[in-house]
Amino acid sequence: MTLQVFDLSAIRSGQAILHPTSLSIELGTRIGLVGSSGSGKSTLGHAIVDALRAQNKRVAHVPQSPDEALDPLRSFKFHWHEAERALDLAHDVSKQRTLFSALKIEDADLRKRPWSWSRGMQQRFVIAMALIGTPDLIVLDEPTSALDPIVAAKTMELLRDHLADKDVAMLLITHDLGLATQHVDRLIVLDKGKVVEDASTHGILVAPKSPAAKSLSTHRSWLSLPC
Ligand SMILES: Nc1ncnc2c1ncn2[C@@H]1O[C@H](COP(=O)(O)OP(=O)(O)OP(=O)(O)O)[C@@H](O)[C@H]1O
Ligand SMILES: [Mg+2]
Repeated sequence: MTLQVFDLSAIRSGQAILHPTSLSIELGTRIGLVGSSGSGKSTLGHAIVDALRAQNKRVAHVPQSPDEALDPLRSFKFHWHEAERALDLAHDVSKQRTLFSALKIEDADLRKRPWSWSRGMQQRFVIAMALIGTPDLIVLDEPTSALDPIVAAKTMELLRDHLADKDVAMLLITHDLGLATQHVDRLIVLDKGKVVEDASTHGILVAPKSPAAKSLSTHRSWLSLPC
């Protein structure tokens, strides 16, 4: 199955921040949505989620910070049950175990409230929650930018391993081309609310065509920069 959205656009304060954009996403593919800050990545991500949900597709969204997804006054157990209820699913202990084990939170105490877990564990819980209903697409908006680099890398690796044999498509929103290249096969480059390039990750790395892709590519090797 292919997920398709047509002519998504957004106007804020009289300004077009997303120009009409149509996309096709094959199930099981891993796509990066990259662009500089303010290029419209989150706007497009939300528009895709809304458009696909309107088509009754199963779409999960993981925000940048677990604070956006978790109520500080509610336990993890409450959040999990709420997520199941929202999708009309009965409580499924074996699914919960599978996801907790995949995201390495199997030994965590679910009676706790969010602040008592590390940020990395919180974000892994949010990702596990997003996968409860086995979505057609999971959209992750800068999912690891609030985490330290080691925890961030590990989180993405756990997600990659879990999705490896599944038909779930992934849209990874990031301004970090280095992170994207490790996890996606296709890159969509946004600049000023327009898709300026949409090609294989390898193709864009080897021969970026647009100024935006060239700029991202030039600045991707943080490790090689002199400190
Ligand atoms: N409510 C709003 N009113 C006016 N401008 C807005 C509004 N929401 C977003 N914008 C502008 O739209 C543009 C795109 O915003 P968006 O958050 O989608 O960018 P982004 O690529 O996700 O940026 P970042 O990497 O910083 O998260 C930005 O220039 C932003 O300032
Ligand atoms: Mg954003």
